[in-house]
Amino acid sequence: MSQTPDHDTVTHGMAPEDSADLRALYKGFEDNHLNPLWTQTGDLMPMHPKSQAVPHVWKWSTLLPLAEESGRLVPVGRGGERRAIGLANPGLGGKAYVSPTLWAAIQYLGPRETAPEHRHAQNAFRFVVEGQGVWTVVNGDPVRMSRGDLLLTPGWCFHGHHNDTDEPMAWIDGLDIPFSQQMDVGFFEFGSDRVTDYATPNFSRGERLWCHPGLRPLSQLQNTVASPIGAYRWDVTDRALTEQLLLEDEGHPATVEQGHAAIRYVNPTTGGDVMPTIRCEFHRLREGTDTATRREVGSTVFQVFDGEGVVVLNGETHRLTKGDMFVIPSWIPWSLQAETRFDLFRFSDAPIMERLNFMRTKVDVE
Ligand SMILES: [Fe+2]
Repeated sequence: MSQTPDHDTVTHGMAPEDSADLRALYKGFEDNHLNPLWTQTGDLMPMHPKSQAVPHVWKWSTLLPLAEESGRLVPVGRGGERRAIGLANPGLGGKAYVSPTLWAAIQYLGPRETAPEHRHAQNAFRFVVEGQGVWTVVNGDPVRMSRGDLLLTPGWCFHGHHNDTDEPMAWIDGLDIPFSQQMDVGFFEFGSDRVTDYATPNFSRGERLWCHPGLRPLSQLQNTVASPIGAYRWDVTDRALTEQLLLEDEGHPATVEQGHAAIRYVNPTTGGDVMPTIRCEFHRLREGTDTATRREVGSTVFQVFDGEGVVVLNGETHRLTKGDMFVIPSWIPWSLQAETRFDLFRFSDAPIMERLNFMRTKVDVE
């Protein structure tokens, strides 16, 4: 079988002989802020994505106590804005980037605390793995945050959070901060020091208008780039996944692979992703299910919502339990194995990769 040549094995037709003139030429490049392609083709145009980010797992049993200690030592308020602790990919030089495009953080709000309102070009969401009692106020609409809910704060929406209880609460944030920084598209504006509405309704106005399956209000026929739904509730997600597995039991097509139910959260005005840069999904594996091994262009982050299992990242096995988070950089092979029923929340930069036509997916055939 013939092997496809790569940068290391191909015969170089551009290897010049060393000479004083050549060294002077290269010095001329350097002095004039120039850099020739032929010395670095393999770095600039790899045969396949070779991310500087590395696969990594953060344990909830490590994250939560550090967030709690931050709650004890660091006040929340204007300037710092949020008591959020970013997951820093070990391959990205200490920056609080979980991947080249994505930010992931654990955020902590103590009893009765308020995180002031602001807005930014970056798109954001929250996902709640445990706890309740905080309302996030998005463009003046108070949105309850409870276990299993996905809450959206699309770019340029004002938002602040307040804890209405005597108990602290922690959740995860996902944003497109690294992508926005690399692209130089960031804008930011301070808002009210207090949230603009301290009401604590069970359902936000956005949910009351939009969250009726298959029904669209006739007053809202304009499509929007981000979803108008502020909260995707756990009971609905759970029911959708339960039904997929029941339908599979009954012999009907419903799951993505045997024992693997999954949903994508969507913008009801377009049927596309909830925000222009971030895809959100939820996956449920039956006990004993092994997924296929996949690789994809772009990066993705998972958080275990419930259950126990294993992720194999680039051939390395990691045990996982509730709250644990892990990142899969571009083109790293991964698979999941469920030891119990295994529920996982997932987000990724797939909308960027798909929109720009860079997306590729490879599923290993056993
Ligand atoms: Fe924010």
